[in-house]
Amino acid sequence: MDKLIIEGGSPLHGEVRVNGSKNAALPILLACMLVPEQVTLHSIPNLRDIATTMNLLHLLGCETDQSNGEITVRAGKELHPEAPYDLVRTMRASVLCLGPLLARLGRAKVALPGGCAIGTRPVDLHLRALERMGALMDIDSGYIDARCRRLQGAHITFDFPTVGGTENLLMAAALAQGETVLENAAREPEVQDLANFLNSCGARIQGQGTSIIRIQGVESLHGCTYPVMPDRIEAGTYMLAAAITNGDLEVVNCPLEATETTISKLQEMGGQVTAGDSRVRVRGGELQGVDIVTQPYPGFPTDMQAQFMALMCVAQGSGTIQETIFENRFMHAMELMRLGARIRISGDTAVIRGGGPLRGATLMASDLRASASLVLAGLAAQGRTEIRRIYHLDRGYERMEDKLARVGARIRREQEK
Ligand code: UD1
Repeated sequence: MDKLIIEGGSPLHGEVRVNGSKNAALPILLACMLVPEQVTLHSIPNLRDIATTMNLLHLLGCETDQSNGEITVRAGKELHPEAPYDLVRTMRASVLCLGPLLARLGRAKVALPGGCAIGTRPVDLHLRALERMGALMDIDSGYIDARCRRLQGAHITFDFPTVGGTENLLMAAALAQGETVLENAAREPEVQDLANFLNSCGARIQGQGTSIIRIQGVESLHGCTYPVMPDRIEAGTYMLAAAITNGDLEVVNCPLEATETTISKLQEMGGQVTAGDSRVRVRGGELQGVDIVTQPYPGFPTDMQAQFMALMCVAQGSGTIQETIFENRFMHAMELMRLGARIRISGDTAVIRGGGPLRGATLMASDLRASASLVLAGLAAQGRTEIRRIYHLDRGYERMEDKLARVGARIRREQEK
């Protein structure tokens, strides 16, 4: 297992390039199962979750090739319907193979993901919506066992704008008979990217990016070449790395519209931000605490909350973060407190009293975005910070330590003994 060692206190200067989006790439890779012809995807980041998805595609019968951020997938041969527990438990997003398998095979046997570090995260909304399209669902020995004849278009209103649920249904409905309407659908940019990809393969989807999406089912989809959108959370994390070190960084290949809420919160805190032409320049400054409430898109993203908590620890005054999406997503707070941060948690709200200097310590990463917040805090802390269990970080950030070291951070990876 690897760990990161950071000597904090160096301002970051220079340019950081953002990779393709993990959360867009995962559903798009699984959507390739809907397409018998070859699909070529560009800008796929080199991450552990992508490797897991490739393994899953293999197990399900797809042929894949990968080189330099380009992946080809051929789902032409016979597909297998089973996604095993050992794989699904390492990556919850595996449950996104349910929609494509049902649409293509009329059968899917997918392990139920179970709990994770940031909450119980059920998939009941996915299952109920697929039932509305005619699938018969059974939970047997920890597996979702689903069957159908051809899925039928349906009018579905989600109780909550679930990202994964909307994605599963988009894929299922693309090949269904007739029209499917998704109301209270997730509006996240990654959902839009999946819909745009499916449309490039011949699907007929309208309304992506709004809360009502209409899908006219088609008989079959054809191959295409598609570039995955840049990662808005990776981009936001590097913006905060500039601010927390009082540096001057240019984040390039940045999806500007998708990072609007992050940029405006950073500006509200006093960060100096200029944006244009897929580039965002962030310079530090006198930062102040702010109040943040996580919301579905276009609200403030839950995936940026932990990083902002780190930033507020070094800002002046107090700030609050209310987490409304996941019920247990403040694991990073306890670790930040080991660096000297002053944080109080009460229910779904964290109150952060800034102003105090952070001092290096040994920390334990608990989940992907929590790991990113610990790295940011380590960059700002005086002395040496050691972050263990960084396999969480590798799920979502491609060689973060290399990118940061190139712009002046004193950071290195070591093997844990
Ligand atoms: C996706 C993202 C994740 C992000 C989250 C919210 C991927 C791979 N992951 O996760 O990074 O933090 O969106 O923006 O894209 N819920 C239910 N029943 C369901 C589905 C969801 O109760 O059937 C609840 C979840 O437990 C959670 C909330 O709804 O509390 C949000 O979940 P959802 O929007 O589905 O997030 P994910 O797709 O899991």
